[in-house]
Parts: sequence; C-alpha cells; structure tokens
Amino acid sequence: MTATAPAHLDLDALRARFPALRRIHAGRPVAYFDGPGGTQVPLEVAAAMQDYLLHHNANTHWAYPTSEETDALLLAARHALADYLGTAADEIAFGANMTTLTFHLARALGRGWGPGDEVIITELDHHANVAPWQAVARERGITLKVVPVDPATGELDFDALARLLTPAVRLLAIGAGSNALGTITDVAAATRMAHAAGALCFVDAVHLAAHGRVDVAAIGCDFLACSAYKFYGPHLGILAARREIAARLDVPKLVPAPETAPERLETGTQNHEGIVGAMAAVEFIASLGSGGSRAARLADAGHRLHGAGQALLEQLWTGLQALPGIRCYGPPPHRPRTSTLAFTLRDAAPEAVARHLASRGVFVSHGDFYATTVVERLGLAGPGLVRAGCACYNTAEEVDRLIAGVAELTRGSRA
Ligand SMILES: Cc1ncc(COP(=O)(O)O)c(C=O)c1O
Repeated sequence: MTATAPAHLDLDALRARFPALRRIHAGRPVAYFDGPGGTQVPLEVAAAMQDYLLHHNANTHWAYPTSEETDALLLAARHALADYLGTAADEIAFGANMTTLTFHLARALGRGWGPGDEVIITELDHHANVAPWQAVARERGITLKVVPVDPATGELDFDALARLLTPAVRLLAIGAGSNALGTITDVAAATRMAHAAGALCFVDAVHLAAHGRVDVAAIGCDFLACSAYKFYGPHLGILAARREIAARLDVPKLVPAPETAPERLETGTQNHEGIVGAMAAVEFIASLGSGGSRAARLADAGHRLHGAGQALLEQLWTGLQALPGIRCYGPPPHRPRTSTLAFTLRDAAPEAVARHLASRGVFVSHGDFYATTVVERLGLAGPGLVRAGCACYNTAEEVDRLIAGVAELTRGSRA
C-alpha cells in the first residue's frame, strides 16, 4: 500500500515501525481505528521493555548495578514524561492506569473534605473521572455537582460551570478530550475559573494526550492524568501532581515507603518495564518532531500529529455525512476536537457495523466507551455508537476503506 502522508509526517517511515500494521485480516491489511481504546505500539517501545526485563530487572534503591540501573531508568522516565506533559520530573507519579490513580488521589483528597464541601464533575467525561469522585462524595458526605453537555454540539456549558463554581467547591474534575465524541475542552480556561473560585482542578488528559500537545504548565491545573497505552506505549497510568499538594496529601501508604513526592503517591513496586516502555513511547513521539531539546521536539510533534489527525477527521466526517442514514456526533471539523469520530447508522446497530467493518479488515470500536453519561444524553444508552479514531499511523486510504465499508451497509437506505 502506498501511504499518503498527512501534513508533515513521514507516514511510510512511521508505519514501518509498527509490526501490527503488517497484520492481514480477511485478506486485507488491517486498518486500526481503535486508537482511542489503545494504540498500536512501535518496535522501539517493545524493545525497550524487553531490554529492561532481560538485562536490568531489579527492585529499587539497592547497592548493586541492576538496582542502580533501575533507579536511573525510573528517574529518566520521570524526566521524559515531564517533558511530554510540560511539568517537572518530581511531579510525575506512576500507577496501574488512570482509573486506579484517580481513585487513589480522590480518596486521599477526600480525607480532607466533609459535609458542606462540593466537587464538580461533567457529563462529558469518561467514568474514570466520575466514579472516583462519586465514591468520595458517598464516603465523605460531600455534594457532587455536574456541568451539563450540549448533546447537539458535544461541548460543555461553561456558563453553567461558572454558576456551579461557588466558594464551597473544593475541586473541579474535567476532561481535556472526550474519548466518545472527540471534543477538546478548554481546560486552561476551566482551571482559571476553578482557581478564581478557590477550587483545585483535576484534568483527565487520557484521550487528548495522543492527539496533540498537553502542557500542564500552560493549563495551570493541579493534577493531570493520562495513560501510556493511548499514546503508543504500554499499559501504565501517569499522574502529574503539583508538588506542594502532593507533599502534604494524606495518601494511603506503607510507613517504610518513601515520604517524599512523587514516590509517596505510588503504591508498592511499580511496573518498571511499563515505565521504561512509556519513556520509549515519549521518545517515539519526540522523533516525529524537530527541534533542539526533547521538549521542543515533543511540542513540534504535537502540532504535526494534530494537523495530520485533523486532515483525516475532515475526510472521514465529510465522507460519512454524504452517506444516507448516517449521523455523526460531536463537534464538526474546525471546532476544537480530536480525530476521533463517533457515528450511528439508522439501519444497523453499532456492533453490527463494527463486525461488518472487521470483515473488511477495518477495526473500529462500538458501545459507550465508559463515557456513559454523554451517551445517555444522546439517547443512545444500550447500543451506543460506532467510534473511529485516527492515530498517527492511519492513512487517507484507510479512511476511504472505512467509508466504503460503511457505504456497503447504507445501500438501499433513504437519504
Ligand atoms: C478519556 C479517558 N479517561 C480515562 C480513561 C481510563 O483510563 P485507564 O484505562 O488508564 O484507567 C480512558 C480509557 O479509555 C479514557 O479514554
């Protein structure tokens, strides 16, 4: 297949680094549009994990080479993730996944809250940024308030957020990118509003992190979480936590475990190979950009990835909208959004669409993607939607194949 390069990415060279792209299904090369659920992994990420496990494997903080190498690798990974997220190495903590880190953080923050305190969540968020705050609300007797989404645009109501931000609010929990609809939310503005009201801000950047630059310093938030398996890495959660808050948080921890941040936010022995793999994923993304420092290359790569994703999204949106009986959700092209597109067909259930496309070697996801509230607001609870996400390795030809596969299902449908 000849890959057509979207703006500023050498797509043929990039694709050669992903062995998964050589998979053939039903006689055709697989087109992976399931990136929002987890992207494919380049060779160098798997190689780094293998190298760690085979040559450096040890526990931390002991006086022999493999342990010292492990300490050095974990520190190097904190620096890499700090560059990726626009923060400092001592503000990067690792964990099993974003959900686990968020439950852990919410429980710790909740120890300082009680009746009369309030937390704000949103209707647009993945439930990993909902359930932890619901649990705290139940356990600590605090009140939860919810920012509504406009189902027609897929965007949050910032006027409502302004009204909800009363002095009783302790924290705003908000997503930077919607994994269901692709909406990009202005979390920097939301953080400024939260801070002006005296509240903390927790940002879920799991979806956004694969699609462009995430910059904690520019956002100004107190906490930001993401997951390496959404940006070409292994299954690992990452939490950026403001050092002054992390240093005094009442976290559940073992007495002999380190008292200093960021380690005090981490529980037990970490997933060392996953952390090393996440560092390799950051290096992979940096290699897509140009610039002097790694941080500069990452910033440049973020722009290129966003630009390439927008071109594919526009092609997908336009191609699908032209078919009879199709409805696309979320912001249209040219609104702030990622290259993740959710749609439904009038005459076929989302799962049937996904199965049909799979039979054409095109892998898409279906359901509510745990963004349960917004899918309910759209009136689609139950069957949900079909979701196609464009990652760095997707091509215009693959988008054409996706549209052609959907078109086969719409033949005979009325406009
Ligand atoms: C936007 C968003 N937030 C949170 C999560 C949960 O992440 P994890 O699987 O790392 O717990 C996901 C996973 O799909 C997601 O897309």
